[in-house]
Amino acid sequence: MNSAANDAFVVFDRVQKSYDGETLVVKDLNLSIGKGEFLTMLGPSGSGKTTCLMMLAGFETATHGDILLDGEPINNIPPHKRGIGMVFQNYALFPHMTVAENLAFPLEVRNIGKSAREEKVRRALEMVQMGAFGGRRPAQLSGGQQQRIALARALVFEPELVLMDEPLGALDKQLREHMQFEITRLAHNLGITTVYVTHDQTEALTMSDRVAVFDDGRIQQLAAPDILYEQPENSFVAQFIGENNTLLGTVKEIKDDVALVELDDGELIDAKPVNVSKPGDRTLVSIRPERVEISKDRLSPDAHLVHAEVLEFIYMGDIYRTRLRVAGNEDFVIKTRNAPDQRRLKPGEHIEIGWMPQDCRALDAP
Ligand SMILES: Nc1ncnc2c1ncn2[C@@H]1O[C@H](COP(=O)(O)OP(=O)(O)OP(=O)(O)O)[C@@H](O)[C@H]1O
Ligand SMILES: [Mg+2]
Repeated sequence: MNSAANDAFVVFDRVQKSYDGETLVVKDLNLSIGKGEFLTMLGPSGSGKTTCLMMLAGFETATHGDILLDGEPINNIPPHKRGIGMVFQNYALFPHMTVAENLAFPLEVRNIGKSAREEKVRRALEMVQMGAFGGRRPAQLSGGQQQRIALARALVFEPELVLMDEPLGALDKQLREHMQFEITRLAHNLGITTVYVTHDQTEALTMSDRVAVFDDGRIQQLAAPDILYEQPENSFVAQFIGENNTLLGTVKEIKDDVALVELDDGELIDAKPVNVSKPGDRTLVSIRPERVEISKDRLSPDAHLVHAEVLEFIYMGDIYRTRLRVAGNEDFVIKTRNAPDQRRLKPGEHIEIGWMPQDCRALDAP
């Protein structure tokens, strides 16, 4: 076991899930979540995120494997006895109750006395800056206000674990960004362990301690946001997270930490061998737009230079986004800072671009 697993608060141990007895929608999931950690499950639609959350919440049972909470298997504990706070997109507030009654409900269920209840409700409302709204009914609130109340209701009984499934999906950009900040602040201040589901990668990268990237019922990579972005382990993760340039080719040679790759247009480049093993392997070479330089003075002498044709040069305020044709790929994008010395490029112009070999990752060809 690694050190993260030793103080694990939530553990999925070889968990599988099938709804129909045939197809596995969660395949051999092993995941340890530390106490107080903010872990996000990120992945495309249908990849199994909600299913994992539902099993943890107790609304679905695992077909195989165990789920542990604080060291104890919870397979047979019903949802309301797990002490988990939940915010689901369609887990609505009770419409016939006021906001304050909605918040008091989880406390009543737990037999908390009236005065303690009132105090906790008041604090929870303050926490989401809705102190003046206790007497309203959910229908008298905006969508964003309802989401904040749902959040307050999930936290009001001070759970050790909170599950959130796309809780901000319905909100406009500004409120969503505000709530992203609020949620992480609350979770960290209260020391709550959070499992958060989203298919918004920016949200995942900005909020999380670690992100589990799901595809097809499996975790493709589990890592801190910067590692995920800078060091994707396979082509799915490289393409799912952030903008990315890809070039297809074949591995010619692997020596120490350098792979020599022949791109499909015949050009030879060096790359870091990440998910290729031997000469002859097809590979997708991945490089982030901001790691490519067009200015020779900013390139170090060991940078790798390739030829490119400018297709589009777009002014975006703080940066220029340039689309190029590189080794047959017409969607090769680079981003350059809008610096005083940055010359405007013209479509049709032929230039040399360059990057450091270690920023160029040889991954599996999909
Ligand atoms: N109750 C159910 N009965 C049968 N199949 C289901 C059920 N719930 C989900 N599935 C299937 O399981 C797979 C995983 O679904 P899940 O809801 O976990 O995906 P998700 O990652 O949350 O997707 P989304 O981003 O669209 O919410 C999908 O193929 C889905 O069709
Ligand atoms: Mg879902």
